[in-house]
Amino acid sequence: MELPPRPKLFDFHGVSMTNYFTDNWDNVQNFQARPDDILIATYPKAGTTWVSYILDLLYFGQTAPERQRPIFEKVPFLELLIPLYPPGVEVLDNLTTSPRLIKTHLPVQLLPKSFWEQNCRIVYVARNAKDNAVSYFHFDRMNQTQPEPGDWNNFLQRVMDGKMVFGSWYDHVTGWWEKKQTHSKILYLFYEDMVEDTGRELDRLCSFLGLSPSAEKKERVRRGAQFDTMKKNSMANYSTLPIMDFKISPFMRKGKVGDWKNHFTVAQSEQFDEDYKKKMKNTTLQFRTVV
Ligand code: A3P
Repeated sequence: MELPPRPKLFDFHGVSMTNYFTDNWDNVQNFQARPDDILIATYPKAGTTWVSYILDLLYFGQTAPERQRPIFEKVPFLELLIPLYPPGVEVLDNLTTSPRLIKTHLPVQLLPKSFWEQNCRIVYVARNAKDNAVSYFHFDRMNQTQPEPGDWNNFLQRVMDGKMVFGSWYDHVTGWWEKKQTHSKILYLFYEDMVEDTGRELDRLCSFLGLSPSAEKKERVRRGAQFDTMKKNSMANYSTLPIMDFKISPFMRKGKVGDWKNHFTVAQSEQFDEDYKKKMKNTTLQFRTVV
């Protein structure tokens, strides 16, 4: 399959973006959410697929093999418009399941207004900046629809400058965090908490969604969504998507907290921490970089 050259970043309403997430903008902004829609909102590489798969298992369980579809079809990506695939909005309009599970990476200020009007439940997942950056770097290496990552040092500088697809990590996680303070229908989860105790976070998720699965079902979901299980599952691991080159790096890469230590030099880590303190000084949001 011939893919166009890698896209370039540009400023879009104050957020760095590529055309793959802005070309369908009118339809995205006019998207009609339904009251029972569940939105999974994240900065890229924070654990979107993990939470999507957990929600899919909770609501729809294990379907028969012939009816299985990859997670990116079952939880459509609202703002996505890439060659050879139907736009996210169109996939959502044709989705027959209820509730609809919807993925977005939009920063809070760019979310289509119907999600607020319909008072939809929103699950936001955040991941510490250092691991998020490492995961994003490897993702950009292997995904032809992302801008060229360049070398790690330059990439890290871009992270600090907020010159990433979907903009600044700092603005994204704090923007949603502030919104959560006044909006009760947002559950704010942390990737690190999920790694530490998936069962506990699953309970929080169920209570937020008003679900009371049996202990057996919860255990089935927890086990089905374990890293090693998902990595082997072609419906969850993105291996059916030709825009990704797993020879460069697999989508399900490590699934750990603290892998940043294998990438940051001491100098890079110190510089990053110093800059982080300045950027995050006005928020109550706290992350763990180890568990
Ligand atoms: P790594 O690259 O650090 O391994 P997203 O779905 O938002 O793109 O996030 C992808 C990241 O979540 C990847 O991180 C991936 O391995 C990790 N991930 C996906 N499923 C996971 C699971 N079940 N447990 C732990 N991490 C998971």
